[in-house]
Amino acid sequence: MHRASLRSALPFLLLILAGAAAAQNTIPQRVDSLLRLMTLEEKIGQLNQYTDNGVATGPVTPDNEKERQVMQGKVGSILNVLGMERTRAWQAIAMRSRLRIPLLFGQDVVHGYKTTFPIPLAESCSWDLEAIERAARVAAVEASAGGVHWTFAPMVDIGRDPRWGRVMEGAGEDTYLGSLIAAARVRGFQGRGLGSTDAVMACVKHYAAYGAAVGGRDYNSVDMSERMLWETYLPPFKAAIDAGAGTVMTSFNDLNGVPATGNAYLLRDILKGRWNFGGFVVSDWGSVGEMINHGSVKDAADAARSALLAGTDMDMESRCYTGTLARLVADGAVPAAAVDDAVRRVLTKKFELGLFDDPFRFCDPAREERALNDPAHADAARDMARKSIVLLKNDRGILPLAKGLKTVAFIGPLVKEVKQNKGFWDVELPGVDSNFIVTQWEGVSAAVSRSTTLLYAKGCDIDGTDRSGFAEAVRIAKKADVVILSIGERRDMSGEAKSRSDLSLPGVQEELAMELLKTGTPVVVLINAGRPLVFNGLAEKASAILYTWWLGSEAGNAVADVLFGDYNPSAKLTMTFPRSVGQIPVYYDHYNTGRPATGDGDRFYRSAYTDLSIHPRYEFGYGLGYSPFTYGGLQLSARTMTAGGSIRATLTVTNAGRYAGEEVVQLYLRDLVGSVVRPVKELRGFRKVRLAPGETKSVTFTIDRESLSFYDRTARRVVEPGEFELMIGASSRDIRLKERFELVP
Ligand code: GLC
Repeated sequence: MHRASLRSALPFLLLILAGAAAAQNTIPQRVDSLLRLMTLEEKIGQLNQYTDNGVATGPVTPDNEKERQVMQGKVGSILNVLGMERTRAWQAIAMRSRLRIPLLFGQDVVHGYKTTFPIPLAESCSWDLEAIERAARVAAVEASAGGVHWTFAPMVDIGRDPRWGRVMEGAGEDTYLGSLIAAARVRGFQGRGLGSTDAVMACVKHYAAYGAAVGGRDYNSVDMSERMLWETYLPPFKAAIDAGAGTVMTSFNDLNGVPATGNAYLLRDILKGRWNFGGFVVSDWGSVGEMINHGSVKDAADAARSALLAGTDMDMESRCYTGTLARLVADGAVPAAAVDDAVRRVLTKKFELGLFDDPFRFCDPAREERALNDPAHADAARDMARKSIVLLKNDRGILPLAKGLKTVAFIGPLVKEVKQNKGFWDVELPGVDSNFIVTQWEGVSAAVSRSTTLLYAKGCDIDGTDRSGFAEAVRIAKKADVVILSIGERRDMSGEAKSRSDLSLPGVQEELAMELLKTGTPVVVLINAGRPLVFNGLAEKASAILYTWWLGSEAGNAVADVLFGDYNPSAKLTMTFPRSVGQIPVYYDHYNTGRPATGDGDRFYRSAYTDLSIHPRYEFGYGLGYSPFTYGGLQLSARTMTAGGSIRATLTVTNAGRYAGEEVVQLYLRDLVGSVVRPVKELRGFRKVRLAPGETKSVTFTIDRESLSFYDRTARRVVEPGEFELMIGASSRDIRLKERFELVP
């Protein structure tokens, strides 16, 4: 081998030797060994993330600019690489770089990969942590088989404003429930741990308080007290990190005047300091460079310096790091040690994922074939979907419908839609046909009896003013025993950059509904949306309303299961539904104020509206089933709780109906006096109980000091002695049982 080729092969040979020797070494030792071999440019490359421009740009080839940079060791991660073959092609190029550091492939696998689950907000309404974890697990098994190492999920932003289209990605408005769901999703994604070939690394986002954007406008500013930040918005992130989330993504918004991507308080003081987070932080798309727009930095170099020093380790697609960090280090504006810390964090995750042992270990055609065609995944999706459907109204028990109905008119623009059922943040896999998605028409057609005549009319589009389809819809409605009307948003009306100032049903859909109601045929409405909408007319006049969100690839089967009683709906809202946009922000765990308006009558000099009730259309925790449940016999194990003690609250729940079903029994607490004002109630426990008709079960909750803790005016976690009210409810407003107890010093 001549001298020149020996020199170029030397680092690789050293790496082989280091790898062989390091095989016994720990990951930190292997990281440090590699770090010592890296040039500054290669280190900065690990902090640089690009998106794959997708199949549209043709084959992955070093002739393209991004691929060329990969080969030069200037890229650490690529997102949006779809399919195993393309992933393999990118990795092969990385293996031609000097140090052969594998690429990390990231993807928004938010609610499914091929098998699509309900949007996360819908899933949260199941209050079924096991099912939610299983949904993430299935997504991980499929995505990891397709070459994905890292998912940009779970999104854990608390959502109290349905004008913000991204509420569809989260778990609603409650911190306690949102924290439990955040942890469940991380467990599902990461499974047995990083390094398992059926696990994907989680990325908890968007850090932080992104959901509190002023006006519900995406990317808008957020300003709140430190106490609210700690009390309401941070806990789901801590829960995700405690569950082992490998990475965190910064949010686009500025928080209290400082962009989150350059916010050292959030990233250094809290995340990497108090919480001792050992993973790495990735910016959101372009958010490093967007600090220039925020006006907190003057140019790309200033943005890179600010973000890196604040604790953002990887730069998604802004190119500020790759374009300016080398000069900043050379000038002493950024210490080399800061770059090394970020690189160490990124390399550590790549080692933990096993990518250095086998860069192609996630690219296994046989495993991909099995994973993407496992019937158990469709079963899990159907189970999750039917558990996510919220029954909002069921006058005179019109539901469940009999499968042997003579004539059913299935009307609306969403009846035969296919991809709409996937909602926003679905994964469009190249070469995978959508025919595995079960439409609502297909689901209902399969459910009704052979003697049933199922009529169809679209009636109108989702938006627009065309009413020409009304007549045909009315005609078939008059011929039917019941109308099923499927209306709502288009799936791209919720999600990122989809804030709406008006939450009514788009287009002329509500008009169509009113025309159908005039026929006198009972109307059962399915509302498909990614957020709470406002539909007061329908709420008053329809016979029944099912909120079907976006249910994923088993939508049609899940809808039919609930409509015809093969599943008794058990979901409960995790976000408040306002009567009007004017009520927003509206949420259940509000403070009492000095002039509380309790009912609708006492508005005079009360914290109320002169023109509208203060009560929402549907409250947090609300959802009906086909069987009523009765609650009774609440007993506390003690009336006082000592400092280190706990109290057990026991009650009975009875299924007073004729359908077996599940009830989400909710425990709320109220701290009657605090050093800061305390919410009128806070969810502090729930049990999803399955009961046969007539069956009674005992339910027990344990209340301990942690249940009573809160952040005081200095944002310190405290527990204060005093009196508490304990409430057991079927919703946050439908409180069935109450008791009081005292915490003594
Ligand atoms: C988007 C989203 C973020 C997503 C990322 C990558 O802008 O804000 O949630 O993970 O870019 O697609």
